[in-house]
Amino acid sequence: MDIFVVEGGKRLEGTITVGGAKNAAVAIIPAAILSGDICRIENLPDISDVSVISQILIQLGAKVTQISKSVIEIDSRNVNCTQVSQELAKNMRASYYMLGALLGRFNRAKVPMPGGCYFGVRPIDQHLKGFEALGAKTGLRDGVISLTTDKGLKGARISLDVVSVGATINLMLGAVRAEGLTIIERAAREPHIVDLANFLNSMGADVRGAGTDVIKIRGVKKLHGATYSIIPDQIEAGTYMIAAAATGGDVTINNIIPKHMESISRKLVEMGVEIYEYDDAIRVTRSRPLKACNVTTMPHPGFPTDMQPQMAVIMSIANGVSSITEGVWENRFQYVEQLCRLGVKATVQGRVATFEGVEKLVGNHVRATDLRGGAAMVIAALISDGETSIRDIYHIERGYERLIDKLVRVGACIDRRTVPDDYE
Ligand code: UD1
Repeated sequence: MDIFVVEGGKRLEGTITVGGAKNAAVAIIPAAILSGDICRIENLPDISDVSVISQILIQLGAKVTQISKSVIEIDSRNVNCTQVSQELAKNMRASYYMLGALLGRFNRAKVPMPGGCYFGVRPIDQHLKGFEALGAKTGLRDGVISLTTDKGLKGARISLDVVSVGATINLMLGAVRAEGLTIIERAAREPHIVDLANFLNSMGADVRGAGTDVIKIRGVKKLHGATYSIIPDQIEAGTYMIAAAATGGDVTINNIIPKHMESISRKLVEMGVEIYEYDDAIRVTRSRPLKACNVTTMPHPGFPTDMQPQMAVIMSIANGVSSITEGVWENRFQYVEQLCRLGVKATVQGRVATFEGVEKLVGNHVRATDLRGGAAMVIAALISDGETSIRDIYHIERGYERLIDKLVRVGACIDRRTVPDDYE
């Protein structure tokens, strides 16, 4: 197996450039098949989730050409299959965006239940409720979700019962070519929803209101190919901001949209971190001790749930008692037990985790329990005395491009090693 080995205690200093947003990329790549034409997608992150979603398109009959590390061309003119293979779907959550994309283009789709990080039950009832409102028949047999419509999709008013990023995206994909007007109420407002709307509009769609909680989509008969550059990754940038602050470093993070970082910056400033914003960069530096703080994760523009494990690490060395209340997922604290192996003092009760700041963390063997939990292990290892090994790094590599490379350039000491499976 492959592991990361981190020698802790190094201060990070220098410049890191973030890549394109993972969660935008995994929605925009499926969306490209709605055009039935050629799309060029730029600023893609070089991560395994992007290669899996691209392979799904290839399996369906699209031609995907890698133009450079961050640019692909998708020719979806000859897509002729509307069923995603089990093998590919199980690797990632976003494989379910093929439901909206295939339904929108072909009036039918079959997609196995998706994989991805486990945060407790991850229902898709809101997706199905929305597809049904658009006129699709839904079914679930042998773990495969099926959608069909004989009469074609018709615009509808859909009021979501929970704010769901996935359902909002899937319904946007389903509605862009439906007849008439679709209104999605209680829509999610994440930056990647706006990015998807911009991409759909660049292909000739008529989507308005993305970024607010009411999205209006007037269906169009046909879309066309487009060239589109994906927004920077808010969570990748936030992860490096916390790594910089935790190590008492001084790091400038390039290729970001400072507005997307506001909820994270605000909390770090409250903890005593210094933050300087530029047009498309942010400098994070810390010379003072960290102060405890409390965070509640919420849908955008609240504090992102995908930043809570990283936040837990910096809280664990702050003066005093900090807390995280998880407002999105029912069970997102599996990583805490791993942090405790490094000396973190934490208790978890239901959706609340409490961290009592300690002087120092000490290296040990830990594992990545999920993607962002894995990022938290890397940051914790950076501030631990001695060596830490991190296993199950495939979680991390699903969503962070060239993580080692980027951290080593700013002074971290990290190695990727292949070791026997019984390595201890
Ligand atoms: C996306 C992100 C994930 C992030 C999450 C919240 C991607 C690929 N993943 O996940 O990293 O943590 O947003 O920002 O973009 N829910 C229902 N019924 C549904 C759908 C969701 O009850 O049909 C609930 C979920 O259980 C959860 C909440 O709604 O409690 C939010 O889920 P959702 O926003 O849909 O998350 P994802 O889109 O899966």
